Amino acid sequence: MDKTFSKTLITGAEGMVGSYVDFGIRTDADSLDITNIKEVSEKIENYKPDTVIHLAAETDVDKCERNPADAYFVNSVGMYNIALAAKSIGAKMVYISTAGVFDGTKKTPYSEEDEPNPFNYYGRSKYLGELIVRDLSVDYLIIRSGWMFGGGPEKDKKFVAKIIKQLSQPEVKAVNDKMGSPTFAKDLVEAIKKLLLENKTGLFHFSGKGCCSRYELALEIAKILRSKTKIIPVNSSCFNLDAERSKNEGLASKLDFMRPWQEALKEYLKTEWIQEDFNNLKKIRT
Ligand SMILES: NC(=O)c1ccc[n+]([C@@H]2O[C@H](COP(=O)([O-])OP(=O)(O)OC[C@H]3O[C@@H](n4cnc5c(N)ncnc54)[C@H](OP(=O)(O)O)[C@@H]3O)[C@@H](O)[C@H]2O)c1
Repeated sequence: MDKTFSKTLITGAEGMVGSYVDFGIRTDADSLDITNIKEVSEKIENYKPDTVIHLAAETDVDKCERNPADAYFVNSVGMYNIALAAKSIGAKMVYISTAGVFDGTKKTPYSEEDEPNPFNYYGRSKYLGELIVRDLSVDYLIIRSGWMFGGGPEKDKKFVAKIIKQLSQPEVKAVNDKMGSPTFAKDLVEAIKKLLLENKTGLFHFSGKGCCSRYELALEIAKILRSKTKIIPVNSSCFNLDAERSKNEGLASKLDFMRPWQEALKEYLKTEWIQEDFNNLKKIRT
């Protein structure tokens, strides 16, 4: 347990990113419901953290599209409750936002200077969260990230885990018309700590260095796990998802300490998945 961050309160600590937070006052949906303003103000007043890292969110993009009211309630109203409580005790606010605040029409990765224009409800509700933080907080960090992987077999419900679980099949389809910057959640937590220690404020992008399509990401996963499964490139119209994803969620950053996404992915799969998939991989090879 890192004592430097002992007065840091974390929301949504049981989620994928939160699984790498081994410091501070960890809260989850049971111990701190961010949509309950009374509970939020009482608990934050009680703990008196010097910093609040706000990870709690509705992160299921398709669910947000099916139920926008819930997306706004958790991602925007929840953010308001947390930012207001943090302000009342003078705590620094750290908010994790998303590359999904951009409309994806740009041909190159998005920098901190680019103008957000979200087009699905997840992106809209998260962008509203950003505006709330900027409006209410004096001392804040907004860190936009994207295409997260992490948490291993238990917590990873996103693309990387979905592909690994399909590697027992002869072929797997992955879209080649959507770009993004894959990010190891563990690296994001290290970046948050670094920015806090350096007393940074304002808006930052943080992701793995570089961009790829979902297809290229799936190819890399199969390569690292030495799977013989054939990865088939397809158009996104092949999958009937509730929320449209933007064509480009690639991120560029003013930070200079991001590592290539391939390197981070390799570490993640080797440390958190290889054992898990060993029998499965053997089966694929024979
Ligand atoms: N995953 C990505 O690709 C990605 C990309 C960019 C930014 N982000 C942002 O990074 C942050 C962390 O994401 P993550 O991947 O760790 O998400 P996650 O695994 O879905 O974790 C989010 C956590 O928030 C909790 N939560 C939901 N509603 C809550 C409420 N009303 N009160 C308190 N807690 C609540 C969830 O608890 P239950 O499971 O019990 O509901 C869950 O443990 C989020 O702000 C997300 O928007 C994520």
